This record gives sequence, structure tokens and C-alpha cells, in this order.
Amino acid sequence: MQPSFGERPQNPRSVLLTEVAQATQRLADAGVPSPRTDAEELAAFVHGVKRGQLHTVRDADFDARYWEAVARREAREPLQHITGRAYFRYLELQVGPGVFVPRPETESVVGWAIDAVRAMDVVEPLIVDLCTGSGAIALALAQEVPRSRVHAVELSEDALKWTRKNMAGSRVDLRQGDALDAFRDLDGQVDLVISNPPYIPLTEWEYVAPEARDHDPEMALFSGEDGLDLIRGLERTAHRLLRPGGVVVVEHADTQGGQVPWIFTEERGWADAADHPDLNNRPRFATARKALP
Ligand SMILES: C[S@@+](CC[C@H](N)C(=O)[O-])C[C@H]1O[C@@H](n2cnc3c(N)ncnc32)[C@H](O)[C@@H]1O
Repeated sequence: MQPSFGERPQNPRSVLLTEVAQATQRLADAGVPSPRTDAEELAAFVHGVKRGQLHTVRDADFDARYWEAVARREAREPLQHITGRAYFRYLELQVGPGVFVPRPETESVVGWAIDAVRAMDVVEPLIVDLCTGSGAIALALAQEVPRSRVHAVELSEDALKWTRKNMAGSRVDLRQGDALDAFRDLDGQVDLVISNPPYIPLTEWEYVAPEARDHDPEMALFSGEDGLDLIRGLERTAHRLLRPGGVVVVEHADTQGGQVPWIFTEERGWADAADHPDLNNRPRFATARKALP
């Protein structure tokens, strides 16, 4: 038998819920890929709470600045530029104009790298992140691989303004320079080289989402006609840096899974070249081991 609860009070209308629903519709109409999530994230940002705490915002506290934030997102400004923060694995990073916004697909690349380093059974693994941008990869590895010694390089001064903020107080050795020529002092000693370099083919410019094309730095996106110019160069850099048996992991576009592993050939001193999918099961990163002498 159902217990009787008596007359229930009417559920009061939530102002925020109504506004978030309207914002979701506007963002969907503008072609934003995840309109509800973004509408909620913007509401959380404007009201200074986490997304999971939106129920604590009282109607009287509704902040009209929400609509300014929604309008910016509607114009396809990246969510992370509006909020100034990007989440990557266990990190919250500061981002904005001048630096590449770290992407969720790169989290699987880092996951593979962590497993590879653990399998090496090295006490203080030496890791190099080439093209570090916001520092997402290097900081995640420093946080998640105990006793790792992590070094990172970035060429763009605009990006480095953000990298320095994110790395303040961390134990990552950050340097400014060209990845192709970086860390000559570490030649032949590194256990793992990781990179998410620019890799979009110039020929695909028109298909790139407006958030990336109009807001990520060009230097972070493109690398020659087929997108592979920098990866071809990084193959030599990784080989120079790694100790025999050390591994390289390089992110690439989902259209390049048939090409990138072939850059790491036996003739060039590599073994076990392979390609791996991301969480959406799209080809996403190549790995190889520096051959033993
Ligand atoms: C796709 S972004 C990736 C940033 C970061 N690793 C991440 O995963 O979020 C590529 C980065 O490489 C940097 N870059 C491009 N060419 C470079 C070079 N020759 N040497 C060092 N960094 C470079 C860009 O400025 C940009 O920050």
C-alpha cells in the first residue's frame, strides 16, 4: 500500500532552468556541438559554482550577464575562452587567445603514455613533451607519474604566456624554442617522447570548426599541405632524444592513421610502430620504440 504524503507543494519554477533551456536552444540553432553542456557550463561560470552545483543558485541570484556569455558562445567563441578555463584529465588549466585549447582526445594519448612509462619500471622516468602549448600533457604526466622528470618545449611566445601561468609551482622544466632542435642536453637519455603537434592539412582549412579556425593559433593547427611536415621532423628529434628501448607517442588527425606509423620505420631505427584509436574509436595516435643496437 502506498503511504500517503498529503498535499505536495507545487514545484516552483526555476528561473535558471528556464534560462538554460532557452540558451540551449539558441546554441543548438547556432550549430554549437554540445549546446546543453555549454549552456550549463556558462551558467556555472557566471554564477561562480561548479556545473553540479547549479541547483544551489537561487532565483533571486540569477545574473543577467549569463546572456552576454551565451551570445559570445553563439558567435562560436570557444567555451574555454569565455570561462578562461579548460579541464584536462585531473587538471584545470588557464587558457585564452594565443594558446591552443587542450582537447579530450589528447587525454587518451596521455593515458597510453602513462601505461607505457609504468611498464618500463624505471624509478625516475625522463619524459619530454614537444609542442606543449598550455602545458596540458606535461603537467598531466608530472601529476600522474610519480617521480617523473618532465621537460617541455614551446615555440610561441603568445602560448608561453599561458604555459608559464599553468606551470607556476610545478616541477616541469619549461623551455622556449623549436621542438626540432630542443633538449640537446638530453640526447640519448629520454624514456618517453610525447607530442601533440600541429597536424591539420592546409587543404582542410575550410572544414575546420570555427572555434578552432578563428580562435586557436594558426601555428597550433597547420603543418604543410598534408599536415605532416612537423611530424616528419619530430621523428628525427624523438630518435635523437630517446635511449634505446625508449618510446615515442605522437597524436595525429583521424585521417592520418594510415600514414603516421609509416614515418617510424625500421630503416630509420624504430621497432613496433603501431597506430591507436581514441575513445571515439577514431585513429588518433602513433607509437614506436627506438630499436636496440
Ligand atoms: C596542437 S597544439 C598542442 C598543444 C598541447 N600539446 C596540447 O595538446 O594541448 C600544438 C602546439 O605546438 C606549438 N608549435 C608549433 N610548431 C612548433 C615548433 N616547431 N616547436 C615548438 N612548438 C611548436 C604550437 O605553438 C602549439 O602550442
